[in-house]
Amino acid sequence: MSLRVNLSKMSRADYLQQLDQQAIAATAPPQCTSAIILDKPIAVELLPGFAQGLISVQDNATQLAAKLLDVQAGDRVLDICAAPGGKTAHILENQPDLKELIAVDIDDSRMRRVSENLQRLQLQATQIVADAAQPQDWWDNIPFERILLDAPCSALGVIRRHPDIKLLRRPEDIAPLQVLQQNLLEAAWSMLAIGGTLLYATCSILKQENEQQAAAFLATHPDAIEWPILSDWGVIRPVGKQIITGESDMDGFYYARFKKL
Ligand SMILES: C[S@@+](CC[C@H](N)C(=O)[O-])C[C@H]1O[C@@H](n2cnc3c(N)ncnc32)[C@H](O)[C@@H]1O
Repeated sequence: MSLRVNLSKMSRADYLQQLDQQAIAATAPPQCTSAIILDKPIAVELLPGFAQGLISVQDNATQLAAKLLDVQAGDRVLDICAAPGGKTAHILENQPDLKELIAVDIDDSRMRRVSENLQRLQLQATQIVADAAQPQDWWDNIPFERILLDAPCSALGVIRRHPDIKLLRRPEDIAPLQVLQQNLLEAAWSMLAIGGTLLYATCSILKQENEQQAAAFLATHPDAIEWPILSDWGVIRPVGKQIITGESDMDGFYYARFKKL
């Protein structure tokens, strides 16, 4: 069970101290400054400051997104496929002076969880329930400086948390997901400002959804260059970086970062 400390409210060292006072054993992984890993899972209500928004439950691999997105004060940020809002909230905790953050998700019930999470953390974002691959239905044509696309995927990187994936996922599921990811990438790119950054993420460990998707995108978009991810975590791939499930106790995750020329 991994936590994200709300660094706009408290330092990680101070929160570790609070856990220690309650005899809750935990460690601070070096890859991510906001992350804490509990030795044993516990009910969130028993965690100090949960209701007050001091912490959230979030795997540390997914906590890397907010930093990689590199949002700046005054940016207009789009979070595509945002529900239940873990990364949305983290971006807002990291940079309170955004012009606006728009969170889009196709699933109304999942979007309600974004509202609940933001309310608990006392954060605000514009929420739109829509198909992000069809921006003509909801976008106001004002480009975004930063876009996070946390794409729907096979989720094979989180199989340790969702072992039912072993039974439910089928080889034939992958091709339609690839098409959806490609459509979402196209739509995201059309909404990105020149000079802006797009971060593509999946919780998959399949090349088809990750480096092959990212390489195909670069090959077909001459106005895109990779902004390489320099880090001491993950495996360098032809495009982007892959975290293999279990590395430093993280979920399997993939990131590729692009800049628009
Ligand atoms: C990996 S989850 C996102 C997790 C989220 N970013 C977070 O950090 O909490 C993928 C999400 O994509 C959404 N989704 C799938 N297809 C979509 C589409 N065409 N447009 C918008 N959202 C979509 C799903 O409803 C799901 O909530």
